[in-house]
Amino acid sequence: MAQKIVAGNWKMNLKLDEAIRLVEVLKINHIESDVRVVLFPPSVYIDTLSHRIDDHIELGVQNFHAEAKGAYTGELAINQIKSVGANIGLIGHSERRAYFAETNDILKLKVDAAVSQEFQFIFCCGEPLMIREAGEELDFVKMQLEESLFHLSKDEMLDRIIAYEPVWAIGTGKTASAEQAESMHRAIRTWLHEKYDEETAQSVSLLYGGSCNHENARELFSCPNVDGGLIGGASLKSEVFCEIIKSY
Ligand code: PGA
Repeated sequence: MAQKIVAGNWKMNLKLDEAIRLVEVLKINHIESDVRVVLFPPSVYIDTLSHRIDDHIELGVQNFHAEAKGAYTGELAINQIKSVGANIGLIGHSERRAYFAETNDILKLKVDAAVSQEFQFIFCCGEPLMIREAGEELDFVKMQLEESLFHLSKDEMLDRIIAYEPVWAIGTGKTASAEQAESMHRAIRTWLHEKYDEETAQSVSLLYGGSCNHENARELFSCPNVDGGLIGGASLKSEVFCEIIKSY
């Protein structure tokens, strides 16, 4: 059975004092449902926040490098990230793909690095507007998954997390309808079944991301193949983020 997950991607927002306050409010609000809550703050805050979270909150990084160490100015390796208290990272967010030229090949290297170093990840996929308008979103997302993720073995794929984030819905206020989200999630589940088997397909958590907020979360989360959300803007406000978690 796929885990229910609500994750907050803070991107390049919040100063340290604001980040600490947000975590404190989340703690006070006692997130103790069966929903797994993961925060992706700016990496420089991980160490500080790791001393302030409680058992209901996990910390992750928005990006990491595939190499274990070396001359990669500005980058972070998985073992460095683990050493300050984070055990999960995003791979392939559309902003990394668009602004930092991360190709499917680069993302495949990150997937392999994460698997070999036992580092969890949320693999992000999703089509830009032009592709959606051309009606080619299924082929596009399938290719992203095939080129970066579906080379994993069944054992390596079990219990993984995939976030479907249509690029046209990210930060735009334009959410995919519950039908649009469900239809892509159903397709991803079917591909997992075809490529692996039913056990694997049912074990993978499929999150929706893209202008998800406290007003639309309930409807999105009620879709049979939506196992949670990757929340950007709405995760920066503690009350709103708590509402989203409670929508489950
Ligand atoms: P958004 O971002 O919720 O602000 O649209 C989602 C994401 O980029 O993960």
